[in-house]
Amino acid sequence: MSKTFYITTPIFYPNANLHLGHAYNTTLVDILARYHRLKGEEVYLLTGADENTEKVVRAASLAGVETKEYLDGIVANFKSLFQKLSISYDQFIRTSDEKVHFPGAQEMWRRLVEAGDIEKRSYEGLYCVGHEAFITEKDLVNGKCPDHGETPQGLKEENYFFKLSKYTKTVSEKIRSGELQIIPETRRNEILALLERGLEDVSFSRPSEKVSVGVKVPGDSSQTIYVWCDALVNYLSALGFGRADDALFKKFWPADVHVIGKDILRFHAAIWPAMLLSAKLPLPKQLFVHGFITSGGKKMSKTLGNVIDPNELIAEYGGEAVRFFLARHISPFEDGDITLESFKEAYNADLANGIGNLTSRIMKMAQDHLHDTNIRMEETNDTNKIPSDFLKAFDDYDVQGATTIVSKAMSTLDTRIQETAPFKLIKIDKEKGRALIVELVRELYTIARMLNPILPETSEKIKTLIKENRMPEISLFPRKVDNDSC
Ligand code: MSP
Repeated sequence: MSKTFYITTPIFYPNANLHLGHAYNTTLVDILARYHRLKGEEVYLLTGADENTEKVVRAASLAGVETKEYLDGIVANFKSLFQKLSISYDQFIRTSDEKVHFPGAQEMWRRLVEAGDIEKRSYEGLYCVGHEAFITEKDLVNGKCPDHGETPQGLKEENYFFKLSKYTKTVSEKIRSGELQIIPETRRNEILALLERGLEDVSFSRPSEKVSVGVKVPGDSSQTIYVWCDALVNYLSALGFGRADDALFKKFWPADVHVIGKDILRFHAAIWPAMLLSAKLPLPKQLFVHGFITSGGKKMSKTLGNVIDPNELIAEYGGEAVRFFLARHISPFEDGDITLESFKEAYNADLANGIGNLTSRIMKMAQDHLHDTNIRMEETNDTNKIPSDFLKAFDDYDVQGATTIVSKAMSTLDTRIQETAPFKLIKIDKEKGRALIVELVRELYTIARMLNPILPETSEKIKTLIKENRMPEISLFPRKVDNDSC
């Protein structure tokens, strides 16, 4: 039986369309998933929408439509973007799905109760809907949440609390021992420092009369499960946890990796493992934490007006170009910047002059001179012949490093063509010239195989051209000229 690999994206808030920062996460996850498929593993990729939040209720009412209608529209946009980006997800979970998600959320709650970790308390605090979390006085700037620019709501209410503090030590131990790996090291240290200061118990429910969406607390419908408690469970409920049909849960849990942005580390590295410990479930093996995509050095935000809509880039350059930019120019370990100008420049250099040009050059020679030879490229679905540093980079989540290695392999091949000048050689010594072109085609084939996780369509196109021994009719990536603005 092949090794299983369960990889997840966070579930996205459907209160607005996704921007390039969100697309970065899904692209990264898809590249990793495809890499693991290439290794012959049985991969399950989960993504979805975090729908039980007041944010969507507010957004729908602003748009003047029913919440359900609003959600369906935004989710359709999410899926359409994922399709354009070739995100090969196995399941898209919607947490408002009463059949798929609710039983798991309720089962989790029952287990927390059973462990004696849920307690009713009266609570007074400041709640930020943007964060979907209580925040403290000291987090505010001029009385407002600095991230969302809104005055938080002052709440005094009865809530059920989760005894998170009880798990501080165990979670810390699990992270230190590597049972729960947090990658990269900087994020591991960040969460260990937080755990060192101790965790406080968290409010895990809201009065149902104050929220309009969500899963009711089992046995007390006057309370609704807190959105983060509910959202985190998606990683289990999608697999059937809490339902009779839980074959996927048995097969894929614990997750191999949750890939998340740095802003939701605390929820995933403190609250989530504590919930799982309380529910007596195994912890995910790894959390991979990426940075933020910035534009012009600033975090993408609607208020700053620097949000890049991935759909616009795709319309101009194609989904594969967006994938390549994100893989090649954004470090998965830190923040990375993109502007429309830097994107176009990179497109021309990496794709038009790079892969596109290289493929045309080699396949033109092949078409002209190899039509009566029979080069067979072996189709293997293992990782034979692929450089080991490329594989190692992927195993270390260094998607940028792996993409740089393919880029270098392409430049090396380009230089080799300049230096060996097969088009001249063939005139002097036909057989030697042909043998050289065959070698170049073989190397191009290896590059196509390496490109498989990063540029699935282009990889297939190159393989087909090789199989049919012809050059592309139009360049794989036509050059964009200056007045051709995005
Ligand atoms: N709904 C929660 C996640 C629940 S998971 C159980 C949430 N949603 S979100 O839509 O606000 O964010 C989803 C993901 O997008 C997060 O990992 C977040 O870090 C990521 N990003 C949001 N803006 C981003 C950038 N500008 N750059 C990179 N990733 C960013 O949080």
